[in-house]
Amino acid sequence: MAKFTVLNHPLIQHKLTIIRNKDTGTKVFREVANEIAELMVYEITRDLAMEDVEVETPMGPAIEKQLSGKKLAVVPILRAGLGMVDGVLELIPAAKVGHIGMYRDEKTLQPHEYFVKLPTDIDQRQLFIVDPMLATGGSAIMAIDALKKRGATSMRLVVLVAAPEGVKAVQEAHPDVDIYAAGLDDRLNEDGYIVPGLGDAGDRLFGTK
Ligand code: PRP
Ligand code: URA
Repeated sequence: MAKFTVLNHPLIQHKLTIIRNKDTGTKVFREVANEIAELMVYEITRDLAMEDVEVETPMGPAIEKQLSGKKLAVVPILRAGLGMVDGVLELIPAAKVGHIGMYRDEKTLQPHEYFVKLPTDIDQRQLFIVDPMLATGGSAIMAIDALKKRGATSMRLVVLVAAPEGVKAVQEAHPDVDIYAAGLDDRLNEDGYIVPGLGDAGDRLFGTK
C-alpha cells in the first residue's frame, strides 16, 4: 500500500490556513500556494539518492555529495496544478514540466482528460504530480493512468488538501504512488467539494468566478 503523509511543518500549516481563508484574494492565494508547494517539495526530496563525487575546492580536492538518482519532472494536473509549478521549480529549476489537462464534470464528478504533453524521457524520470485538491480522487487516478500508459514508473502525488475518500481511492487504484498533502480534511460535501477545504482551487488561483 502506498504511503499517505501529511506534512505537518509549521510553515506549511500556517500558509495553508492563509489560502483556506475565503478573504484571501487571488494575488496572495497564488503566491502562498507556490510557497507551500516549495516547502512540500523540500520535505519530500529528503530521500533522493546521492553519490560521492570528487570536487576541487580552492583549498584542494575533496570528496563530496551530488544527486545520483533519476532526473526529476513536475507534472501539474491542469488547470489548478499550474498554481504549484513555480514553487517546485524554485527548488528544482532544471526539472522538466509535463502537463495533463483534466476537468471534473460538475454533475457526475467524473474526470475528463483533454490534454497530455510530457517530456519524451518520462519513463526515466521521477515525477512529482501536483494538484491542489484531491477530492474523489478521480482526476489523480486518471492522470496517473495516463502517465503509466506512457511509460512512467516512478511518481509521487503532491496535493495541498486531501479528502479521505480521495486518498483511499488513489491508494487502491495505484498502490505504488505515495501521496503527500499539506492537510487532510474531514469529508466531501454533496457537490464533491472538500470540507472545510479551500473552495474551488482553480477559480481562486485564476480569479475566475
Ligand atoms: C479540481 C482539482 C482537481 C480535481 C479534484 O480540478 O484541481 O484536479 O478538481 O477532484 P477529484 O479528486 O474529485 O477528481 P477541476 O476539475 O475543478 O479543474 P480546474 O483545475 O481546471 O479548475
Ligand atoms: N476541486 C476543487 O477545486 N475543490 C474541491 O473542494 C474539490 C475539487
